[in-house]
Amino acid sequence: MPVSARPSRKDAAVHPNARLPIPKRPLPALAAALVAVVALMTAAPVRAQPVGQSLPPPVTGARATVFHASSEARDQAPPSLCLQTPLRPDGPPPADWSNDAARVPVFSRVQGRAAVRLLVAEGTDLYGTGEAAGGLRRNRTRTVAWNTDAYGWARAELSLYQSHPWVLAVRRDGTAYGVLADTPERCLIDLNQGIRFEAAGPEFPVIVIEGDSPQTVVRALAALTGVTELPPRWALGYHQCRYSYTPDDRVREIADGFRDRGIPCDVLWLDIDYMDGFRCFTVDANAFPDLRGLDGELQARGFRTVAIIDPGIKQESGYHVFETGDALDAWVQTAAGAPYAGPVWPGSCVFPDFTMDRVRSWWGGLYGQFLSLGLDGIWNDMNEPAVFNVDGKTMPLTNVHRADPDLGGTGTHARFHNVYGMLMSRATHEGCLAARPGQRPFVLTRASHLGGQRWAATWTGDNTASWDHLDMSISMVLNLGLSGQPLAGPDIGGFVGAGSGPMFARWMGVGALLPFARGHTGKGNVDKEPWSFGADVENTCRLALQRRYRLLPYLYTLAREASVTGLPIVRPLFFADPADTTLRAVDDAFLLGDDLLVVANVKSDRAAAGLPAMPRGRWREVSLVEGDLDDPDLPRLFLREGAALPLGPLVQWSDEKPLDEIELLVNPDAEGRATGSIYEDAGDGFEYRDREYRVTRFGFAEGKVRTEVVEGGWAVGDWRVVAKLVK
Ligand code: NOJ
Repeated sequence: MPVSARPSRKDAAVHPNARLPIPKRPLPALAAALVAVVALMTAAPVRAQPVGQSLPPPVTGARATVFHASSEARDQAPPSLCLQTPLRPDGPPPADWSNDAARVPVFSRVQGRAAVRLLVAEGTDLYGTGEAAGGLRRNRTRTVAWNTDAYGWARAELSLYQSHPWVLAVRRDGTAYGVLADTPERCLIDLNQGIRFEAAGPEFPVIVIEGDSPQTVVRALAALTGVTELPPRWALGYHQCRYSYTPDDRVREIADGFRDRGIPCDVLWLDIDYMDGFRCFTVDANAFPDLRGLDGELQARGFRTVAIIDPGIKQESGYHVFETGDALDAWVQTAAGAPYAGPVWPGSCVFPDFTMDRVRSWWGGLYGQFLSLGLDGIWNDMNEPAVFNVDGKTMPLTNVHRADPDLGGTGTHARFHNVYGMLMSRATHEGCLAARPGQRPFVLTRASHLGGQRWAATWTGDNTASWDHLDMSISMVLNLGLSGQPLAGPDIGGFVGAGSGPMFARWMGVGALLPFARGHTGKGNVDKEPWSFGADVENTCRLALQRRYRLLPYLYTLAREASVTGLPIVRPLFFADPADTTLRAVDDAFLLGDDLLVVANVKSDRAAAGLPAMPRGRWREVSLVEGDLDDPDLPRLFLREGAALPLGPLVQWSDEKPLDEIELLVNPDAEGRATGSIYEDAGDGFEYRDREYRVTRFGFAEGKVRTEVVEGGWAVGDWRVVAKLVK
């Protein structure tokens, strides 16, 4: 069922802080200005002067300041739940900020809630706000940062599964700044007049980052909230999922489907039906009598397996997870101090309280035996947490978390709701690492919060098989990237509803070029494997995925860059020229790294796609596999002038064979030069941290390619390089 856009009266009665003053659509300018004046007049007195303290520059080219509503608010501020380390302010705010209403927030209280406003200068474009439905440019939108089970969400839905109280602002001249509201509480992000945050709970600090470019600001955000670790290389391959592949022979059929048809794929996923009665960490012995054996067979054919684990634990004596958690007193409690129980898939469930280190350790410990079944990664779902048949679709906000002191100590669910999923994925990530110290964890989470990129990749939840959702999947992934999360993708083909062959083909074309590429669909839905819609669509899907696999060396290089700098893997077009305002609202085209520009056709009309505003320079259209230029359902690809793009061989899975030849696609500049680079390592494990990696730089000049190892000491593997000039 689609979720209503506004909390219902009943909802508000249960959870008083659920009601936010949210008009349905932006007011006309004059009325809006009047409302603003009246709001300012009626709001409780504006604090005299916020307390601002400058921070050491998070990255070169950036300056940052933390503001509190008052010195009392600063002294009483609970610990941040999104920053990776506590801030260490080192002086007064920069002198040139003192009269700048765009950089110095005004704190107030609105109907009992803490609120903050910053003015926005004319010509400034706003982005970020995390996983938000709608277009790329976020001016004149409202988002409510409140993790919500948003099945089949609508365009402009206020709350999806994640919360990122963060806005990136790009001024007309291409300089940028970012504003972070450091609160885990339910938070309105209102971008109708300036930037306004309004949140339940105590006063919250605001961090303002100033940068010479949007890239600098995004890197500074990562310096404060953390980066995604380098994923195993296989995670950048294609993933195939559905709710659910069962029994085991159906999984084998899917594996055959890929290998027999020569469609590349790395990962097959197990949704909840592999479990015994939806009990987490169990396996249905009838449907999967030998999961370890099955995983072994799949591995021999180049497939990895990822299995789902939800937070709701069936309340049932004799079930080992319930028993051990109960003995540990691990559950989130009601206001009265009893374990809270609510219905999810297996019936009445209790929920681990991940705000306690001892609970995260216990939970993490459950993965040792589980992963030994031959599983390669873990999918954490329903971790908003979703609860069935209740108002607000989650547990009561009066529930109690007995958080450790470093997370601020005991507090209500209202305080910890938005970080529940993030802390679950942290426990999972740490558990996988403890169970297999030599392997990089791969965790996918549905719910998350600013900073959650440290522990898990993400997908955009239960989207719909519609052209509009295909369209939105690009801007959503872009804005997640601008909010710190570089590893994201939609359910390719749409989770809810059947869609159509042409839509599926178009979706695969785009989805194969997003950082996390997984096909998935709902229970009872039509099949949505690459071959499910007939031969034409199958051919398009094959080409789309062949393109992805040719790009794997480049994708892996970008994932490594993201893990070091926090720069997203896919980037909005304006990253190519932040001062070019014609690029600011383009969201059916994007950049993969800096060098490849992707123009998608997401409209139902096959011929509809013209070229969007293009960044300056001679971008040349390129082909990555034979036949891709002739397929109108595939996005068009353009290579930056002066770029040399390394392509790998066509493989069926990422580790099929060592890289022995690189085709370097070269688009020389006016002087006939081009540059590029490639990052390589073992593809998994942590030896790369001991210099067991290699960054090679390609320089093309006078018709020849020169290679130079510029970083790392990895000596394994050697390839030859063949340059191909694009015309
Ligand atoms: C909800 C998730 O969003 C979806 O992807 C999954 O298939 C179902 N839960 C069943 O586990």
